[in-house]
Amino acid sequence: MKKLFLAIFCFGTMATFAQKKNAVDSHEKKMEWFKDAKLGIFIHWGLYAVNGIDESWSFYNGYISHENYLKQKDGFTAENYDPKAWASLVKKSGAKYSVITAKHHDGFALWDSKFGDFDAKKSSAAKQDVLTPYVDALRENDLKVGIYYSLPDWSYKDYTHFKRNEIRYDIKKEPKRWETFLNFYQGQLKELADTYNPDLYWFDGDWEHSSKEWEAPKVRQMLLDRNPNTILNSRLKEHGDYATPEQGMPITRPENKYWELCLTMNNSWGYQRNDHDYKTTDQIIGIFADVIGNGGNLLLDIGPKGDGSIPEEQVEILEGLGRWTKKHQEAIYGTRSGIPKEHFYGPTTLSKDGTILYLFVKGDPKGEVVVRGLKNRINRIWVVGEGTKLSHQVVGNVYWSHYPGITYVKVPEYVLDENMTVLALLLDGEVDLYREDGAVIESN
Ligand code: GLC
Repeated sequence: MKKLFLAIFCFGTMATFAQKKNAVDSHEKKMEWFKDAKLGIFIHWGLYAVNGIDESWSFYNGYISHENYLKQKDGFTAENYDPKAWASLVKKSGAKYSVITAKHHDGFALWDSKFGDFDAKKSSAAKQDVLTPYVDALRENDLKVGIYYSLPDWSYKDYTHFKRNEIRYDIKKEPKRWETFLNFYQGQLKELADTYNPDLYWFDGDWEHSSKEWEAPKVRQMLLDRNPNTILNSRLKEHGDYATPEQGMPITRPENKYWELCLTMNNSWGYQRNDHDYKTTDQIIGIFADVIGNGGNLLLDIGPKGDGSIPEEQVEILEGLGRWTKKHQEAIYGTRSGIPKEHFYGPTTLSKDGTILYLFVKGDPKGEVVVRGLKNRINRIWVVGEGTKLSHQVVGNVYWSHYPGITYVKVPEYVLDENMTVLALLLDGEVDLYREDGAVIESN
C-alpha cells in the first residue's frame, strides 16, 4: 500500500514537473523572436500631435480643457500619411517590430471600431481607418505587429476616471456601470485580436485599477485563446510576458529574462513642436548597446505629426541607427547578453553558442582595448562590418599560474566606426572567465 502511494506520489510530482517543463519550453519558444529582435519602434500617434501637447495627460492634468483637446480632431488630417514609407523606415532602422498606439488614454481609436464613434474614421478630419494600412505595411515588410492599447479610456462616459480631480463614479457603488465599461474595452480587444491578430499587445495604464477589477487573467486568456503565440507586456497587472522599464535605462542587469526599455528620442512620446531636446544618434546607439548587452530590447519611440509626416529629426535618428545596425548586425540580432563589466568596461554581447564575444567600443580607444581574465585562447579578432583582422597581446600570464592575464587588442584608428566600433573575438570554445579573487602565486 505504502509503495502504491509512493508510486502515485512520484508519478504525480513527475507529471507536474514535466508539465511545468513543457510550459517553460513553450514560453521560451514563444518568446524567441522577441528575444532575438533587440530593436522595436514605438509610435505615438493621435489627436495630441495636432497641437503638439502631452498625449492624453494634457487634459487629464488640466493644461487644456477636454473640449479643446477634442477639437484637435479637425486638425488630424493624415493627409501626408504614408504607411508604407513608415514601415520601410522602421525596417531601415534595423527594428524587427513596431508598436503603435491603437488607442491611448484619451480613448481616440486609430481603427474603425464598431464600439463607439470616437475613432479616426468617424470622428476626425482623416475620415479613414489609419491603423489597418500600417499593420498591413508592417506585415509586408516582415515586421512583427505590436498593438498599444490603453486600459483606461478617460473620454468614455462609463469609465471611472476623467481628470486628475474628477472621478466619475465608484465601482463599488455602481458595479453595473463598470460592467458596461468592461464589456466595451474587452469588446474592443476582441475586435483588435480578430482583425489584426497582433504578435504583441502593449498594455498601459493598469495602475488605475486592480487585476480583479480589470479582469486581467480573463483578458490574458481571451487573447491567448485567439493566438497562443501572442506576447503581452507586463502592464496588465503583471499578467504579461516581459518587463517594461520606461525611460530609465537599467543600471544593473534586470532579473527578468525578458525585458524591453521604452525610450523617447526627445522628452515626449507624441509629436511636440516645441521639444527639440533630442538625444544624439551616438547616445541612442550607446543606450541600445547597453540594453542588448544586458539581454533586453529597446523600444524607441517616434511621434508623427497630425498630417502623418514624421519629423525630420526623428527620420535622421532612425536612418543613423539603421546604418549602424546594418553594419553591426552579427553582433546584435540573435545574440545573448554579454560578460560582467569587470572583464570589459563597456557593453558586450555573445553569439548564442557563446564562442564569439563582441566588444562595443565607445569613442577612440587610443590604440588598444583591454579584456581582463579571459581564460579562452583567442583564435581570431576582427572589426565587425569592416573586416580588418586585429592582433592582440596577453600580459601577466605566467606558466606556473592558471591566472589568464590581461588581453590588449590593438585597434588602429582607421578601423573606427563614426558612432561605435564593434570588435569580434572568436574564442577556442564557449567563453570562460576567471572569477576568482586573485592569482594563485605560491603554494606555501
Ligand atoms: C506612460 C504614459 C503614456 C505613454 C507610456 C509609454 O505610461 O501614461 O503617456 O504612452 O508611458 O510607455
